[in-house]
Amino acid sequence: MRAILCTEWGGPEKLTLATLPDPVAMPGQVVIGVRAAGVNFPDVLIVQYKYQLRPDLPFIPGSEVAGEVLAVGEGVTTPRVGDRVLAACRIGGFAEQVAVPAESCHVLPGGVGYPEAAVFMLAYCTVWHTLTDRAAAKPGETLLVLGAAGGVGLAAVQIGKALGLRVIAAASSPGKLAVCAAHGAGALIDYSAEDLRAGIARATDGQGPDIIFDPVGGALSEPAFRSIAWRGRHLVVGFAEGAIPSLPLNLPLLKGAALVGVSWGGYLKREHAAYRIAAAELLAWLASGRLKPLISARYALQDTPRALQDMAARRAIGKLVIEP
Ligand SMILES: NC(=O)c1ccc[n+]([C@@H]2O[C@H](COP(=O)([O-])OP(=O)(O)OC[C@H]3O[C@@H](n4cnc5c(N)ncnc54)[C@H](OP(=O)(O)O)[C@@H]3O)[C@@H](O)[C@H]2O)c1
Repeated sequence: MRAILCTEWGGPEKLTLATLPDPVAMPGQVVIGVRAAGVNFPDVLIVQYKYQLRPDLPFIPGSEVAGEVLAVGEGVTTPRVGDRVLAACRIGGFAEQVAVPAESCHVLPGGVGYPEAAVFMLAYCTVWHTLTDRAAAKPGETLLVLGAAGGVGLAAVQIGKALGLRVIAAASSPGKLAVCAAHGAGALIDYSAEDLRAGIARATDGQGPDIIFDPVGGALSEPAFRSIAWRGRHLVVGFAEGAIPSLPLNLPLLKGAALVGVSWGGYLKREHAAYRIAAAELLAWLASGRLKPLISARYALQDTPRALQDMAARRAIGKLVIEP
């Protein structure tokens, strides 16, 4: 099979296209013929040795896929050969085939296409877990989304709107904000042109957001937290800007507010039964059209390095997909 290989740590330009033996389904595993692989920010970090997951070299990056089951290992009863599935795989996805644990697969409802399935679960389930579970969001509350046109950002805009929240999108350009508005954001802040705190005050009549969805970190987190409403929840999702910010602990005290960490990987592993229920509900929303991921660019397998470069350079809007 053809696959994208990381043979040395560094930028996406160091990745190579290689021909490797097809994977074999070991006990408990299935082999998926990959029709589409979603691109996620951790894929950019893993190849640079900047993520908590540090595989041995060489390895195939790519954290989620959709395709047909080609083979099943000993002991696997579901899914079956020929089923259309999506799966989270952490690594191995940027390839024509990947072996994954059977329990990480979800059989696709009819009508759900491979590209949409491949970009869906990591971003949308993270957001679902974050808003419904970690933040206990209630209809009518105000949600501020930072990096709102990115993969998890736009998912937060869409799911926030679907949950009945008032969504404020914050991003770095008018073009990105126009996409957020088209997906349900009711107020917009361009933090490349307007001071973030001034924008939040304008968009919330000075009240501040009840919930902040923060996948960006860096210089945005503290000003956002300083603007949060009484009893607010600031959701620590990621650090796409690169810097992990610190926060003076008097700030949560003064606002009666909470700083809430989010780990989709931890949720999947430690609360697997709850994860499966949430995932099934989300897949039903995808199948019914209630949620529709925006795929802004599609790449052939050999162009995977360019996809990761586009993401690292903030050019991605919504989701990017690789089609081997
Ligand atoms: N905690 C979890 O379980 C979990 C799950 C999934 C993802 N994440 C994290 O969430 C973050 C976003 O992931 P994603 O897949 O949505 O990525 P993405 O599509 O690239 O979105 C990231 C957004 O961050 C903003 N950004 C600001 N500074 C940036 C910089 N220097 N480089 C790149 N982007 C920058 C960009 O928006 P503007 O240009 O508008 O600022 C961009 O749209 C990552 O840190 C990822 O690890 C965490």
